[in-house]
Amino acid sequence: METVVSGIRPTGNLHLGNYFGALRNFITMQNEHNCYFFIADYHSLTTHPTPHDLHGNVRKILVEYLAAGLDPEKSTLYIQSDVPETAELYLFLNMNAYIGELERCTSFKDKIRQQPQNVNSGLLTYPTLMAADIIIHRATKVPVGKDQEQHLEMTRTFANRFNRLYNIDYFPEPQAFNFGNELVKIPGLNGSGKMGKSEGEGNAIFLDDEPEAIRKKVMKAVTDSGPTVPGQQKSEAIQNIFQLMKVVSTEETLNYFDDMYNTCQIRYGDMKKQLAQDMIAFTAPFRERIRAISADEAFVSKVARMGREKAHESAAKTIREVREIIGFKRF
Ligand code: TYM
Repeated sequence: METVVSGIRPTGNLHLGNYFGALRNFITMQNEHNCYFFIADYHSLTTHPTPHDLHGNVRKILVEYLAAGLDPEKSTLYIQSDVPETAELYLFLNMNAYIGELERCTSFKDKIRQQPQNVNSGLLTYPTLMAADIIIHRATKVPVGKDQEQHLEMTRTFANRFNRLYNIDYFPEPQAFNFGNELVKIPGLNGSGKMGKSEGEGNAIFLDDEPEAIRKKVMKAVTDSGPTVPGQQKSEAIQNIFQLMKVVSTEETLNYFDDMYNTCQIRYGDMKKQLAQDMIAFTAPFRERIRAISADEAFVSKVARMGREKAHESAAKTIREVREIIGFKRF
């Protein structure tokens, strides 16, 4: 049995990228492994949310985790800030994390570009907090999308550095994980790049989107002027549409449109209509469950309470041991 950890920042609703990149794997793993899934609310402070938005977003993600199939009886579902031991481990790890390696991190460079008016030290030390999230439970597997690969590599660096520094084999090496496959990057609808909540209007399909919103976004998705010779290489925008179809549609549908493309008979309007329909069918059960769970205040509170207790127990044990390893001793 492995220990598995993963998390999502509460900065908006869950989208298909979150689901296929991380959640789906995690949901499958909860049947066999010791799983922790959390809501990364400390991380979201780097963008300075208001107290009202912060709380609302945490609740929304908690409801959506449950609606997506995370089972609080099988896995530990918790809110990061409910386990302040994570912040203590973050502090310890920061003492051995170097400015140069943090500045070289791709996600930091992206953030400098995205929010030049707010380059705070939380952004710089994002990878140490993420490492703390993972190693606080001494996890070995981390189901994440492709965009988190470098963070996982840094987590291994920090864990190994701690072990070396104190000459002890304490933290295992966590690996980014996707079921039997490469890590995935689910593309967005605006022609290039990944699906993401900060990648522009209309780029992401959220699990709680209404059918009409899905149809509108998909019909507006970027395409090209169509193939002119049989078997022509697909442009990035078209590859993206095909990739999205691959995750929500049947193989038969995908093959049909692939043949139509390869024989230059494709009509992108038809393909997008089909894609929208399949996305609506795929997300419909999520929408229903989100509504039902969101209305059940007592259940949501109980889940948060259960998760807090279980996560705290595991984190407190690690912190007790880490303090001892470092040399903090009670007088
Ligand atoms: P976040 O909140 O940006 O995304 C949550 C998860 O969804 C995956 N993901 C995607 N996967 C494939 N294609 C996409 N288009 C796509 N968009 C998002 C992400 O890879 C991620 O797995 N730093 C993390 C949160 C975090 C975390 C952790 C994760 C904090 N501490 C510890 C794992 C372990 C983040 O910002 O993810």
